[in-house]
Amino acid sequence: MQKKGSVSITGVSRYLPEQRLTNADLEKMVDTSDEWIQTRTGIRERRILDKDLGTSYMAAQALESLLEQKGMNAKDIDLIIVATITPDMMYPATACLVQDSVGAQNAWGFDLSAACCGFLYALVVGSQFVETGAHKRVAVIGADKMSAVVDYTDRETCVLFGDGAGAVLLEPAEDGAGIRDFIFHIDGSGGKHLCQPGGGSLHPASHETVDKKMHYIYQEGREVFRFAVPSLAGVSARLLERNGLTGEDIALFVPHQANKRIIDASVNRLKLSTDRVLINIDRYANTTSGTIPIGLSEAVEQGRIKPGDNILLASVGGGYTWGSILLKWAY
Ligand code: ACO
Repeated sequence: MQKKGSVSITGVSRYLPEQRLTNADLEKMVDTSDEWIQTRTGIRERRILDKDLGTSYMAAQALESLLEQKGMNAKDIDLIIVATITPDMMYPATACLVQDSVGAQNAWGFDLSAACCGFLYALVVGSQFVETGAHKRVAVIGADKMSAVVDYTDRETCVLFGDGAGAVLLEPAEDGAGIRDFIFHIDGSGGKHLCQPGGGSLHPASHETVDKKMHYIYQEGREVFRFAVPSLAGVSARLLERNGLTGEDIALFVPHQANKRIIDASVNRLKLSTDRVLINIDRYANTTSGTIPIGLSEAVEQGRIKPGDNILLASVGGGYTWGSILLKWAY
């Protein structure tokens, strides 16, 4: 058995669809303005996947590019975990579709549903298989086609979301590097404030559910905002504290990208300098499970992370789900 802490992210990649939906485009669709969207959320544009493609396409693209980056054969992957709340269909799992698409013949896999915290939860779940020695190469993907569940006549939600995917590879690591600690929470009493009520076993698809728009995102934005700010900041602060760290020890904070104001409030509370915070909500909006691996991938590409750096990840979302992970970067 390997010791805890001996699993690291050894590669990260992303896939963003090319098509852009700008605030100016949305001004033509609903009663909104670029000014409102930018001041209230920080978003300028988002990416939209072709309507004939599903989440598995973006997940597979992100994984393909990870394999290429690592010079690795898909047959070397042991496990594929896809965090998503927009699977191509109820079943088979998106992980099965990705496995087939990339030709990962020796892998097993599954999907994990935890809304905006999906990728963080999947990262820790995947790491357990490496820590125990059961597997050597685990692919963890966060992917969501939010455009499939957004009502583009509802100005309160349609401006917030975009499509995208990111993928990381987990492998055994030297002692000291890797996932060092995490704190996760769920609180189901908040589920009613942010959900997609239709299409599951409680409200199976019917003319009635479609007429009532139950297959779209339902969000009480103000309520979720009130919950998100203290939760994201609080869980990150507690994680730092119990590891004897302060904001100054963090080389990069990669928070979920739901609203720039939520991020700014957390950054203030953690006393982080803004140059140590990954922000890409302006270009991609909220891609749900995709935001954190997409952000990590951009940070690595931009040289903002180096081996030995302390990296803090944090997210809050539907469920409610919220949590934070502390990493020592390995490569
Ligand atoms: N354009 C113009 N006006 C708008 C828009 C829009 N797109 N959307 C709402 N408004 C209006 C409202 O109708 C309201 O008008 P009123 O005062 O006349 O009633 C006014 O703007 C203010 O609305 P609020 O809801 O108070 O605006 P707020 O500042 O809270 O911003 C937002 C709304 C952006 C949704 C914010 O509440 C938020 O970010 N919430 C949290 C989202 C989040 O973190 N979700 C979790 C992750 S998602 C997941 O897990 C899948």
